[in-house]
Amino acid sequence: MIQATLHQLHVFETVARHGSFTRAAEELSITQPTVSTQIKQLTKSIGLPLFEQIGKQLYLTEAGQELLTTCQDIFSKLANFEMTVADLQGKKRGQLRLAVVTTAKYFVPRILGSFCQQYPDVDISLQVTNHQKLVRRMLDNQDDLYILSQPPEDVDLVAQPFLDNPLVVVAPPNHPLTRRKRVPISALQGETFIMREPGSGTRRAVQQLLDREKISVNVRLELGSNEAIKQSVAGGLGISVLSAHCLLPELTVGDLTVLEVDRFPIACRWYAIHLHGKQLSVIARSFLDHLLLESQQIPIFEKLEKKHAVQLT
Ligand code: PGA
Repeated sequence: MIQATLHQLHVFETVARHGSFTRAAEELSITQPTVSTQIKQLTKSIGLPLFEQIGKQLYLTEAGQELLTTCQDIFSKLANFEMTVADLQGKKRGQLRLAVVTTAKYFVPRILGSFCQQYPDVDISLQVTNHQKLVRRMLDNQDDLYILSQPPEDVDLVAQPFLDNPLVVVAPPNHPLTRRKRVPISALQGETFIMREPGSGTRRAVQQLLDREKISVNVRLELGSNEAIKQSVAGGLGISVLSAHCLLPELTVGDLTVLEVDRFPIACRWYAIHLHGKQLSVIARSFLDHLLLESQQIPIFEKLEKKHAVQLT
């Protein structure tokens, strides 16, 4: 049986996360020699090196990598246990780690707001990133819950659909296609387009539709931000496809027009997902219930259909 204290595992996890003894010492408010001693003792009881130094860079060995995964598992289970204890005492206390795709940032903070009002002792960490990076985070088990459209099919997941995420074509108001009441999808052939970056789920959904319909557009610009895409469309750089939720904050007459193109909106849905087998904390479960309930209050596409012009603030 390996003799290791929780403190040693904590020190090890901090060094591994920072890739540095000095920064681990700073984070833990202990001296660097203390960090070295703890790691030496841990290495001795495991019987294999945990780190190797190449030049100035500190790398985890295979044993170190395995130990890091084990530590993350232990610490996350301990944190879940603390939350369960607080729950048994009638309190909701602990951390909620959420990661959402960029398009979900338009409604998740509001839902988080009402959740935090209900549970003021819950600390929140919210990561906003694109589909590909979010799936990576999930495979690395970095967060409690994930919100995205198009859950990966080759991963064993628990996925709960909760809200429509229609993808619509947006153009500047003076674009020739805005004069047509109904635009055939073939009219997009050769159009100057602004695309999201590779790895974006929005981009993947758009590309799948265009490929299926054998339409090729002229991609002038790739941007990793929905807000930058809105500004670029308004500035006349091209047309694009965005989640209707990205347009909701500016739902008044103005700088952007939603085109009624055949086959659009692309009917995506958001899902709250986590890896099958992951034990959700009481706080993550409470948030999931809150999300499922509150998201029913979000009106979206009916509103856009009544008014197709969107003004940027
Ligand atoms: P993304 O979001 O384009 O920011 O990757 C796509 C999604 O809704 O999953």
